Amino acid sequence: MSIKKISKKQPENFKFTEDNLKTAEKIFQKYPKEKQQSAVMALLYLVQGQNNNWIPLVAMKYIAKLLKMPYIKVYEVATFYSMYNLSPVGDHFIQVCTTTPCMIRGAYKLVEACKEKISSKENEFVESKKCSWVEVECLGACVNAPVMQINDDYYEDLDKEKTLKILDDILNDKNPIPGSYRGRKNTEPENNRKTLIDNKNA
Ligand code: FES
Repeated sequence: MSIKKISKKQPENFKFTEDNLKTAEKIFQKYPKEKQQSAVMALLYLVQGQNNNWIPLVAMKYIAKLLKMPYIKVYEVATFYSMYNLSPVGDHFIQVCTTTPCMIRGAYKLVEACKEKISSKENEFVESKKCSWVEVECLGACVNAPVMQINDDYYEDLDKEKTLKILDDILNDKNPIPGSYRGRKNTEPENNRKTLIDNKNA
């Protein structure tokens, strides 16, 4: 598991774009007036989307002001959850699941591919600064293990060779297609169903 690091280099300013301010307004409407602080997680995620995949401290202060809550409370949330990056991670942030189901299906081969193509260490940029990688806990797609997440997309049913190809594509500004790399549609059984075949509704 990676250790969360807060970037030493921090921007001086942050504010939402016009579009994100509108999105923030919509998020506020999901919560009762006296419970607006509950929007903190969604707003932090919005910051991350706007700020190249990471959340600077000044943005936490901005969110605290928007939600009229103490900065330390926003800081606590941002530093607790692994979905928030507190240092730059590059345009393509690669998360490799190494929890048990993925591990027994070869997740460490994916880690090897990341070490070869990106960096021998987690949280370190490839030379071009386009991407970095990190090991994470279960991504919730165990049925398609081993799984790797790149930004918001899942790449599933991988092996080392396929992972190397995906990483090559990213490094060459191509967009690899997300989903199963063994030709499965979503989580359907491979080579057709073998159980409950007499049950039409299964
Ligand atoms: S264990 Fe890897 S997605 Fe669940």
